[in-house]
Amino acid sequence: AAMAAERALAMATCTAPVNIAVIKYWGKRDTDLILPINSSLSVTLHQDQLKTTTTAAASRDFTEDRLWLNGKEADVGHPRVQACLREVRRLARKRRGGSEDSAALSLSYKIHIASENNFPTAAGLASSAAGYACLVSALARLYGLEEELSEVARRGSGSACRSMFGGFVQWQRGERPDGTDSLALQVAPETHWPELRVLVLVVSGEKKPVGSTAGMQTSVETSPLLKVGGHGARPARAGTGSPFPWNGAGGCAVTPRGSWCCGCHQTGGTVTFLLPQSLQGPGAATPWPWPSPGCPCPHVPTVPPQVAYSFDAGPNAVVFALADAVAEFVEVVRRSFPPATNGDQFVRGLPVGPAALPRELVAAVVTEPVPGAVQYILHTQPGPGPQLVDDPSQHLLGPDGLPRSRA
Ligand code: DP6
Repeated sequence: AAMAAERALAMATCTAPVNIAVIKYWGKRDTDLILPINSSLSVTLHQDQLKTTTTAAASRDFTEDRLWLNGKEADVGHPRVQACLREVRRLARKRRGGSEDSAALSLSYKIHIASENNFPTAAGLASSAAGYACLVSALARLYGLEEELSEVARRGSGSACRSMFGGFVQWQRGERPDGTDSLALQVAPETHWPELRVLVLVVSGEKKPVGSTAGMQTSVETSPLLKVGGHGARPARAGTGSPFPWNGAGGCAVTPRGSWCCGCHQTGGTVTFLLPQSLQGPGAATPWPWPSPGCPCPHVPTVPPQVAYSFDAGPNAVVFALADAVAEFVEVVRRSFPPATNGDQFVRGLPVGPAALPRELVAAVVTEPVPGAVQYILHTQPGPGPQLVDDPSQHLLGPDGLPRSRA
């Protein structure tokens, strides 16, 4: 009713989270519908630290669809944006049973969309996942849809389907050629594992040189690891007592067939998201045998891991640790990569207490400090799925349907 057509302008704002896969999606069996070659499993990160906010508005006064990303007008004709819009409208039409309900928002009205991240875009922090999950959530609110929409978010960006849920999320690859069974499911809520913390070691805020779509396609074509067969994603085993139940290898995030990083490294030498300093971060805190040259995957650890790490399609290391281990880990990183003294905060997000490092640990892991290699550490934890923003003062579009000028 709030979206009644007689109102000149209908508007909805949502926020959506970033997710980090621990069993990676890396390769499509259908590039148009975005169907993956394997199932994947991710952790949804808390929106207090990383989120996208999107406002969608519809009005009979709008003359064209328009889109603004981080305050700048962008191409609303982008095929993936259009796919999401088309699917949401199709579901809205279906819900109304084909009849044009006069109380409902007209599907023929043009829309304006504004979206903002509170973190650097395209820096390998899965901004497309949060972005499309947020777009679909805001559009669904606008049109009053209540169904599960991970299948629609998937059409924007594969990993976006997992950002439609909080906590621990599986994207089931599905079997059907039309993709109707390729959707995300929550495996466990964020409250399932209250001690889990996530640290993003930001080594670069620059835009990544290779996009995921092109990168994974090259991998599918050239990587022997991905050729072994894309059907065998291991089922999620959250909650089995071990701190890192999904990760038999002990360190690097796994794909169904081994290390995702290795899969990339084998990609004809053309796909490398890592910077030299990328691996030094987690390496600094791992007092167990560390990767052989040329392959970033660790050997099987000889002592229980204190942290596990993962990379997505960017240079930033994502480290998983239990809350108890965070202060010590952060101190090791601080010693190994003494922060540049430009006044920026080195640790952001959740507070981190002080830690005194045992002498043996320092001797074992802090060998050659590299000042400034890690820009900052973002400390976060698992969090909930997309949220509706109730407060109208938080809309990114003003009453005129244009982006509010940001002070
Ligand atoms: C490395 O979801 O960005 O983050 O579907 O082409 O948009 P498209 O790719 P995208 O790829 C994400 C790949 C990854 C691994 C993962 O999130 O599972």
